Amino acid sequence: MPWIVGVSGASGTPYAAAVLRALLAGGESVDLVVSRASRLTLLDETGISFRDAHWRDDLREWLARGADGKPDAFDVDVDGDAVRYWAAGDLAAGPSSGSYPAKGMLIVPASTACVAGVALGLSKDLLQRVASVTLKERRTLVVAVRETPLNGQTLRHLVALDDAGASVVPASPAFYAGATHIQDLVDFVAGRVLDAAGVGHGLYRRWKGELGGGARPA
Ligand SMILES: Cc1cc2nc3c(=O)[nH]c(=O)nc-3n(C[C@H](O)[C@H](O)[C@H](O)COP(=O)(O)O)c2cc1C
Repeated sequence: MPWIVGVSGASGTPYAAAVLRALLAGGESVDLVVSRASRLTLLDETGISFRDAHWRDDLREWLARGADGKPDAFDVDVDGDAVRYWAAGDLAAGPSSGSYPAKGMLIVPASTACVAGVALGLSKDLLQRVASVTLKERRTLVVAVRETPLNGQTLRHLVALDDAGASVVPASPAFYAGATHIQDLVDFVAGRVLDAAGVGHGLYRRWKGELGGGARPA
């Protein structure tokens, strides 16, 4: 069964790329939904114009890119059956029904608009519809919200999502894991998203109870 990955229009497309790479490297299959707004953030953050008609080529280029913008930093195979793509406007897509088999959904990054839409059950596009379906089917839903500061409205929406059974995983990197590159900080967030979904990975160094483990030599 696949994991459904929803990419909404918050800053943080490298987080989505890191989650997708880790899922595929771990032998998981993925159903991908990319919101209309996220094409703007992807274009801004990577220079890639994501096209429904050429999604495989664009996804290959995106997942190969490092968080520092370097192309061909990763070698990722997106050519087989492991990735299925659904257009955000396609409300008749398979995952829009609870009868479509899926392990759950990871929304990474999640915009505050997406958080609001899912909390209120708006289903304004396929991404939001799949999130609502995931909740009603009592499957795992992880929401990696990316915004700062947060207003009371968004905080209330996040509480509503938590009450509904979702895991809210703010895209907030930590510095105890010895990060030396932007990619390390990205991988930490991606790893915590996968932790919340119970997916194994080796994206970051876990805390071992010893202070100073992340300190760099002078
Ligand atoms: C370059 C750029 C960066 C953005 N960053 C964020 C962000 O970090 N968090 C957020 O909540 N919205 C952000 N937005 C606004 C969302 O894209 C906007 O609210 C959009 O309606 C979200 O739609 P979606 O949830 O359907 O993807 C950003 C927009 C652009 C163009």
